[in-house]
Amino acid sequence: MLFKASVGLCIFKKILRARLNTTSLYFLRTFHIGEMAKSKFEYVRHFETENKCLLNCWIVVRVDGKGFHKFSEAHKFERPNDKRGLDLMARAAASVFEDLNEVCFGFGHSDEFSFVFKKTSQVYNRRHEKLLSLVTSKFSSAYVFYWRDYFGDEVKLLYPPSFDGRVVLYPTDQNLRDYLSWRQADVHVNNLYNTVFWALVLKKGLSNKEAEEKLCGTLSSDKNEILFSEFNINYNNEPEQFKKGTSLVRKVVKQKGKKPRMVAVPLHCDIINDKFWKENPEILECDTAGEIEVQEGKMTVLYVTPRDWWGAQAPDKAIEPTKLPVKNVFFTYTKGRYGFSEQFCRDELRKLQEKHMSREAGDIIYNFAIGGSGKTYECRGWAVSPKLGKRYKQLSNQSIFIAYMGIFKGTMPTIKMMRAGDWLVKLGIRRGFIDTKFVQYHITATGYEGYTSQKFDLATEDSEKCFDVTL
Ligand code: GTP
Ligand code: MG
Repeated sequence: MLFKASVGLCIFKKILRARLNTTSLYFLRTFHIGEMAKSKFEYVRHFETENKCLLNCWIVVRVDGKGFHKFSEAHKFERPNDKRGLDLMARAAASVFEDLNEVCFGFGHSDEFSFVFKKTSQVYNRRHEKLLSLVTSKFSSAYVFYWRDYFGDEVKLLYPPSFDGRVVLYPTDQNLRDYLSWRQADVHVNNLYNTVFWALVLKKGLSNKEAEEKLCGTLSSDKNEILFSEFNINYNNEPEQFKKGTSLVRKVVKQKGKKPRMVAVPLHCDIINDKFWKENPEILECDTAGEIEVQEGKMTVLYVTPRDWWGAQAPDKAIEPTKLPVKNVFFTYTKGRYGFSEQFCRDELRKLQEKHMSREAGDIIYNFAIGGSGKTYECRGWAVSPKLGKRYKQLSNQSIFIAYMGIFKGTMPTIKMMRAGDWLVKLGIRRGFIDTKFVQYHITATGYEGYTSQKFDLATEDSEKCFDVTL
């Protein structure tokens, strides 16, 4: 076969040579040499094999951190759950969604994340190696890329983490649901055990071995009882993220006057019962994505625009992390200009950052800023202390500082701005960054400072609908 092809090529070149001038012959020679080299070595391609995932099956790629027991200790993860680590895992998973449109669902907890490719997917010809390597490498690099956003400058990444990956095929919808139920049940079992275990060790001073012995052979009800009677902890009130893991669903955000956009929405809910699958039918039906409407006066998605987007500089000094969940929420005004457009907010935030850094603040002083249209911008983010004024300085590492962009002397921020502020707080509570019972302070442009104590009910419909979407 190879022989036949090269004889054909020689005849073709002879005919060409007869018709071409000298310059063209130069190119022909170059081509000839290249061709020779190629034909001599190319045969090794036949050693390559390709594994394709069986048609009509759900393809699940699961990544799992290698040696995360050690990794979490080396980086002083909070025990049993470190929110920063879990959120970073979800952010890395969202990067996989951004890269691979055919991933329709994700679920993860601790150091693992599963990605479900539609059963009808033809992406990369369903090549096993291609899918496995793309998911694993994208996930790993995103984990490192976004590390600082979640751990700040205080917790430096000491060495590059790695994740292993595997592909599993599930032929029926029920098999897929059972797989995901298995992973979620695992979250519950591990989290309940770990919550009691670490309470015994950290709060009661038991050694690891003593705690292990105490828990040996106990049922769920016994563990709940220990938590309640010995630590006054009602397991049901633990954050949903810790109890249910993180599910990622793909949704199209439709907003008046804007192009529809595809986003990965993190949810912390039950995926074992039918309710979730009825509410998100697009996953099993292999439709492109579900839809989220963002309407006037009914905002169901909170956009938190990352700091890179507005061109933030890196902080020029180390900033203390916050003690989560924080107990205080401060609202203030940037005392700068007021405007709606994205361009305006981008320029304004850069100017504010420069001003604050020139005053030795290390970075823009707020955790978040809210523009005139209600768009929310990440400044220091959730995990890093803001810089509060002298009077509240000692509360800095226990607070979140949110700034409405503008002066508002004698006027109020717009309804959209205030609603975004409210949603941001609800989101912070839902994600465990803000204590459910927090004190809210308002620092107005005229210097008046007032505060109210608030307690949010997490079960309200509003907070359920409040998604954190990074666009
Ligand atoms: P291999 O996956 O086999 O390489 O082992 P591993 O050390 O990664 O353990 P495994 O995947 O079974 O479990 C993950 C481990 O990561 C847990 O046992 C914890 O030790 C650690 N881990 C994951 N998330 C957290 C967290 O939020 N806080 C703390 N403290 N540890 C965590
Ligand atoms: Mg692991």
